[in-house]
Amino acid sequence: MPRARSSRRSFLKSSTLAAASLALRGSHALAQAATQADAHIEVIPAEPIGTIAPELYSHFIEHLGGVIYDGVWVGESSRIPNINGIRKDFIDTMRAVQAPVLRWPGGCFADSYDWRDGLGPRGKRPARSAFWSQQDTNAYGLHEFMHTCSAIGAKPYLAANIRSLPARDFYQLIEYCNAPAGSVPSNSAAPAVPNTLAAERAANGDPAPFNVDYWGVGNETWGCGGNQTPEEYAAAYRRFTAWTPGYDNHHLRFVAVGPNGDDADWTRRLFASLRSNPVHPRLWGLSVHYYTSGSATKFAAGDALQFNDAEYYDMLARAGFMENIITDHWTAMGDNARNVRLVVDEWGAWYGKGTELGPAYNLSQQSTMRDALLSGITLDTFHRHADKVAMANVAQSINCLHSLMLAQEDKFTVTPAFHVFRMYLPHRGSQAVRAQFTADTIDNPLAVAESPVGGNSAVGSIRKKTTLAGLSGSASIAANSNGKTLNLTVVNPHLTRAMTTEIAVRGATIASAIGTVLNETDVHAHNDFAHPHAVQPRAVPTLNPATGKLVHNFTPASITALEITLV
Ligand code: AHR
Repeated sequence: MPRARSSRRSFLKSSTLAAASLALRGSHALAQAATQADAHIEVIPAEPIGTIAPELYSHFIEHLGGVIYDGVWVGESSRIPNINGIRKDFIDTMRAVQAPVLRWPGGCFADSYDWRDGLGPRGKRPARSAFWSQQDTNAYGLHEFMHTCSAIGAKPYLAANIRSLPARDFYQLIEYCNAPAGSVPSNSAAPAVPNTLAAERAANGDPAPFNVDYWGVGNETWGCGGNQTPEEYAAAYRRFTAWTPGYDNHHLRFVAVGPNGDDADWTRRLFASLRSNPVHPRLWGLSVHYYTSGSATKFAAGDALQFNDAEYYDMLARAGFMENIITDHWTAMGDNARNVRLVVDEWGAWYGKGTELGPAYNLSQQSTMRDALLSGITLDTFHRHADKVAMANVAQSINCLHSLMLAQEDKFTVTPAFHVFRMYLPHRGSQAVRAQFTADTIDNPLAVAESPVGGNSAVGSIRKKTTLAGLSGSASIAANSNGKTLNLTVVNPHLTRAMTTEIAVRGATIASAIGTVLNETDVHAHNDFAHPHAVQPRAVPTLNPATGKLVHNFTPASITALEITLV
């Protein structure tokens, strides 16, 4: 069992806070609470961070294993309930988490994919050897993806192929997606005629433009996207984005390929190179990928279902690297790139092989309560950096690494991570505010282990994380609540220790709180096809503090979402 380590500075701070409130109020109940508390949370509404973009809850699907074929696409003639060939359970679940943006077709797959292969009558589409060593029938292509987005109510985010297709194909993909329907004026004297690619799109069933805003200019260019240096990529980025077609008020948001994990050198060099030319290219976001993998102990990258206490703490400690990654790259981008935001378009837990749904379901893995805690830790980190992160895409939505759903033929279940996404919905669109969490940290028992070797090259570049926050979370003030509704999400990673916590809001009084908690006595708990409801959140009984502050007991290994009413 790892030793809890006290941060002397924060302990003194919390003691001072507690003493000050005691002196002011002289309440016996408060005195008891303050002395018995294991932790303190002070929310400071006067210190706003930024609006929490709903896009922080975005998704990613790739032609990989059973993600698209079987996960998303079952085909129109399937006996599995579907809407135009798309698995109905997938659509319903994505709607339940109000998925704002969906990224496709990869991942590494994107840089070997020709978007034209997925057009036209399905029976006539080519079957190709694809990136992840599987043959792709191309039954699921651009139109099927766009229909998936509209069925969900999500915006599309396309990752372009810059390794094996020239820039012209990228321009034409933009044109195919966004050129207006119908006849448009041509050169001065010529009569108005339809745009040829828009006409092809219409002939393929979709006259109205797809109006795609988000464009990833390649993927992991330092690896599967072409083994490029930042300088080589900067030149390619400039070429691909310089003179792209634009339509009326349509705003293209280009996302440049960012670093491998915490490789800040990539970011520095990329920005230096992009700025070395006086004409700066259009750039909306910098893509960042970070997968959390376990230590090199029994299993290369850890096992999704079998783990001991030390491996559990190690994994959650490594989830904390997301904070370093965000701040390191933000710093590396420099002050004159403050109009560019980070796009964490791949994140999640990545374990070693062993829990795949079957041989054809490459990179699919089970998800336990541990992964629910990892989700909470990560989403809270995004909120705390709402001013820096514009979008984040969990990898991947179904049948893959950190999935919200698992599906195999007619079997389906949501994972514990799905529940966390649901519980955190009220934060979206709210104003993130600073919240000071004061609690003993937990030593990472595996911090001295060798650097991990994982299923992803990003893993190797990650330093060791020696401690884990004993309690962490984020706070936001709901829009249109006149400052009276506070959303507070809290993760208690202790396996056996409940954390009695005093919650105070600076400059306000807590009138009441309601909430939801996700926890199980065994962190290995997970849903499977036979037990799809094994892990379920439950309501926290209404809390009515008498003192204006709340004392709440956060159960071991739990994620809690509180909606707090202030007066
Ligand atoms: O999500 C699986 C893979 O991880 C993606 O294809 C790639 O971008 C990353 O390395």
